[in-house]
Amino acid sequence: MRIQQLFDVRGRTALVTGGASGIGLGYAEALAANGARVALLDMDARRIDAEVSRLRGAGMDVSGHVVDVTDHAALDRAVDEIVAGFGHLDAAFANAGIDPGPGYVGAWVGDQRPRVDEGALERYADARWNRVIDVNLNGVFATVRAAARHMRSRRKGRIILTTSAASQRIEPAIGAAYMAAKAGAAHFMRCVALELAASGITVNAIAPGMFVTNIGGGHAKDPAVQKALAAGIPLHRVGMPSDMYGLALLLASDAGDYITGQEIVIDGGLLLGRVD
Ligand SMILES: NC(=O)c1ccc[n+]([C@@H]2O[C@H](COP(=O)([O-])OP(=O)(O)OC[C@H]3O[C@@H](n4cnc5c(N)ncnc54)[C@H](O)[C@@H]3O)[C@@H](O)[C@H]2O)c1
Repeated sequence: MRIQQLFDVRGRTALVTGGASGIGLGYAEALAANGARVALLDMDARRIDAEVSRLRGAGMDVSGHVVDVTDHAALDRAVDEIVAGFGHLDAAFANAGIDPGPGYVGAWVGDQRPRVDEGALERYADARWNRVIDVNLNGVFATVRAAARHMRSRRKGRIILTTSAASQRIEPAIGAAYMAAKAGAAHFMRCVALELAASGITVNAIAPGMFVTNIGGGHAKDPAVQKALAAGIPLHRVGMPSDMYGLALLLASDAGDYITGQEIVIDGGLLLGRVD
C-alpha cells in the first residue's frame, strides 16, 4: 500500500463548521489542498469571503456558507444544500466553537493564579453558560445530526468533532461551561460512534491543546502570550492550525477506516503535566 493511496482524499467531499478560521480552516486546507471538495460553514461572512477567495486563488475547490450552528433549522438547510451540490457527503467536521470568557482564576503569575470574580461559580451568568453550551455542545449535536442523515443512506461517512484537552483535564482559567461542553461533546461522540457504527459511519474527536487561532479575540497571536503558554507545554511551543493537517487527513481518508469512538489529543504533551 502506497502512502499516497492510503491518505488519498481526492474527489472526497467534506464540510467544516467554523471553517473560516483557525483549526477549522486548518482541516479545510488540509483536505482541499489534497484534492477534496470542501464547504466552509461559518457565521463570520467577512472571514468566509476572504478565506474562500484565498483558497480558490490557490486552486482549491471550496465554497463558503454563512450559517450559525445555533440555528438548527438554518444549519439543516445549509447542509442539505451543500450535499445536494456535492451529490454525497464523505466527511463532516463539527468544529465551530467559542471562547467562554474567564474562569475562576487567571493565568499563572509565578506560583500563583489570581482569582477572577466574574468566573466564580456564584457569579457565573446564565447567559454566558447558555451561550457556551449552545455553540460548543448543542451546535455540535446539530451538525452531527445533519451530517448523519445524509451519510446513513450511503452507509458510509466520517464525522469528526473538535473537542479540547479540556474535556480530559480541568483548566480553571477557561471555566466551567467550556469544560462541561467539551466533556459533553466527547461523550456524545462515543455514544454516536456506537450508534452509527452499524451504518458504516465512523465518529471521532480531535482534542487540541493550546493553538494559535482567532479564539478569544486572537490573544494567543501575541508573541508574549505564546511564550508564556509554551512554557507550560512539554514540546515547548503552542500549536498552529497546520499541526492539524495530519489528523484531518488521517480521519478523512482510508487510513482512518478502522478508527471510531476515539478522542485523539493533540497538545504537544500538555496533558502529561506541567513543565518544570
Ligand atoms: N485554539 C485553541 O487553543 C483550542 C483548544 C482546544 C479546542 N479548541 C476548539 O477548536 C475549535 C475551533 O476554534 P479555533 O481555536 O479555531 O477558534 P477560531 O475563533 O479561530 O475559529 C472558530 C470559528 O468558528 C466560528 N463560529 C463561532 N461560533 C459560531 C457559530 N455559532 N456558528 C458558526 N460558526 C461559528 C467563528 O466565526 C470562527 O470562524 C473550537 O471548537 C474550540 O473550542 C480550540
